[in-house]
Amino acid sequence: MTMPFQPAAFPYARPRRLRSQPWVRRLVAETTLTPADLIWPLIVHDGPEDRQPVASMPGVFRLSPKEAAKAAIEARDLGIPMVALFPNVNDGLKDNVATAATDPDGLIPDCIRAIKDAAPEIGVMTDVALDCYTDHGHDGVLEDGRIVNDPTLERLAEQAFIHAHAGADAVAPSDMMDGRVQAIREALEANGLSDTLIISYAAKYASAFYGPYRDAVGSSKSLTGDKKTYQMDFANAEEALREVAMDLSEGADALIVKPGLPYLDIVRLVSQTFKVPTFAYQVSGEYAMMQAAFANGWLDPDRAILESLHAFKRAGASGVISYFAPQAARMMG
Ligand code: PBG
Repeated sequence: MTMPFQPAAFPYARPRRLRSQPWVRRLVAETTLTPADLIWPLIVHDGPEDRQPVASMPGVFRLSPKEAAKAAIEARDLGIPMVALFPNVNDGLKDNVATAATDPDGLIPDCIRAIKDAAPEIGVMTDVALDCYTDHGHDGVLEDGRIVNDPTLERLAEQAFIHAHAGADAVAPSDMMDGRVQAIREALEANGLSDTLIISYAAKYASAFYGPYRDAVGSSKSLTGDKKTYQMDFANAEEALREVAMDLSEGADALIVKPGLPYLDIVRLVSQTFKVPTFAYQVSGEYAMMQAAFANGWLDPDRAILESLHAFKRAGASGVISYFAPQAARMMG
């Protein structure tokens, strides 16, 4: 960064003056974090229990549709604008082409309707990808050991339509197939759903930090191999710009960078280059690491949570998808 002027030298310049009191620190803060910056991911399930703890994510529960509706009311009362839904479906429903992903009476449509009944003023975003419904745990259709792109697009477009038709406000493709935003946008347009937002996981990396999530949605047992032929290589930054440009040209309204803190450089690059709403996802592994440190007394939860979320705003994000959303919103309240 080039400085527009040469700062005065000590002792004329004393940067500590602007830090000397809480009021002046507040006055000169360059960024703010409010509950309106948060999206709360909810793991939902079709099992018999209302709330089932996720071992690798202390404080996170798999919720029945009824409990998801209660969580949406909690989000609304805390000033959180949107929840994001992720399903854990019964293993018996999983197959190679993710049949259950396009069941209009499936778990996600049920949850959308329950939430919209309980708290219509809350935005509902859904994950568009097949991994939670396939018996092999991949985000696309598997043929001869390969994830086949174009046949997957048809499945994703149908899945997005089912979600939007059930009342989802935003669909968020997280599968990283080529051309999926266009396929989804065309399906929405063709079915009179032109107001549905597409919030695209445009820069999604093949990451070790998704581990606890795969446990939460029940895909870790089944996943064969890794997702490196479709999710991005963590060595790359420039490639994120090409992915984002493609998704925007195909009709995405907003973007997600994922994971979060280890990819703050990407958040910065994408938000500054495109100047469209860019969200960061503080993923399950980041949440689990912090919870582990809190449980051991190694980090102070209140301070570390707010500091980590604020970092995304500083990097240029419009907001953050975080499992800490309700806890953080309560601290801000
Ligand atoms: C997959 C999906 C993943 C996450 C959200 N959607 C994991 C993956 O790609 O394997 C991860 C979220 C998290 O770790 O919190 N469609």
